[in-house]
Amino acid sequence: MIKYRTLGFVNTKDMFAVAVKEEFAVPAYNFNNMEQLQAIVMGCLETQSPVIIQVSKGARDYADRTLLSYMAQGAVEMMKREAKARKISEIPIALHLDHGDSLETCISCIESGFSSVMIDGSHLPHQENAELTREVVEYAHKYDITVEGEIGVLAGVEDDVSSLTHTYTEPEDVQDFVSRTGVDSLAIAIGTSHGAFKFKPGQKPEIRLDILHEIEKRIPGFPIVLHGSSSVPQDAVETINKNGGKLKDSIGIPEDQLRNAARSAVCKINIDSDGRLVMTAKIREIFSQKPAEFDPRKYLGPARDALREMYMRKNREVLGSADRAAAILALAGR
Ligand code: G3H
Ligand code: 13P
Ligand code: ZN
Repeated sequence: MIKYRTLGFVNTKDMFAVAVKEEFAVPAYNFNNMEQLQAIVMGCLETQSPVIIQVSKGARDYADRTLLSYMAQGAVEMMKREAKARKISEIPIALHLDHGDSLETCISCIESGFSSVMIDGSHLPHQENAELTREVVEYAHKYDITVEGEIGVLAGVEDDVSSLTHTYTEPEDVQDFVSRTGVDSLAIAIGTSHGAFKFKPGQKPEIRLDILHEIEKRIPGFPIVLHGSSSVPQDAVETINKNGGKLKDSIGIPEDQLRNAARSAVCKINIDSDGRLVMTAKIREIFSQKPAEFDPRKYLGPARDALREMYMRKNREVLGSADRAAAILALAGR
């Protein structure tokens, strides 16, 4: 059993307490490889933002679970060294399992140093979801690890689970789920969806802030999580398609709607697809402009820079998480 604190991670408790009080959301960015992880951590250090670095089951299969968790540990060391060299404050980093599918996957992550896990039973009937989530909470809380549950189903793809339509979270269900399971945060379905194709051109992209407010009334101050919150940057889609790509037109979640949500009880916002688009756009551009280039550092390096810039802008302009790191570390007594 590797204890996450000895690796320098924090759980999400203090992050969410400050985020709820100060009306911002902590970014939860997915990573599958070194360049993504470097871009996330360096972008968040630069903007002095707390961050949740998260890995899906797919990421653990792709990059190897052991390699991924050692990379995450290395990222904390890199952040500390950079902070010291530049005489800036360190930032709180949580290592989180995204869309955990079973108690076993959660235990495997907890044992390898994760500070937070999600158990996603959203596709199960309410009772079964609550029971599974309760089991994970019982195990995780013994080690002071925070747990995210989910009720309601997002349209799009949730790992292996594919659903074509939203099942919005029923506000009447949340109190019962939260009190029965003891979860630390709750992911809800209010119109966001996974992937790069959320709304077709002509459709009005809208998240249901009315449902969010109903939920907030029932569990005041309880940390809410939004999955599927990429905004699908149109310049990245255009660059991809101008340089040989064939992405269909799509619209993501408008950033002003996310900013509004972050001012309420939403205190964790998950973004993955936007990073994939920005990286792909840069790599395609370089391949078009420099067809003789074959050193991966010459295209992955610029892609990493573009990604870091994107995270910095999200923290400053969308999540409102820039310059909040110190308040969280102060609450944690560090
Ligand atoms: O919610 C899904 C995340 O974007 C992770 O995606 O399962 O393809 O790694 P993935
Ligand atoms: P996007 O596909 O909108 O980036 O959502 C990511 C996510 O919810 C990860 O859990
Ligand atoms: Zn998700």
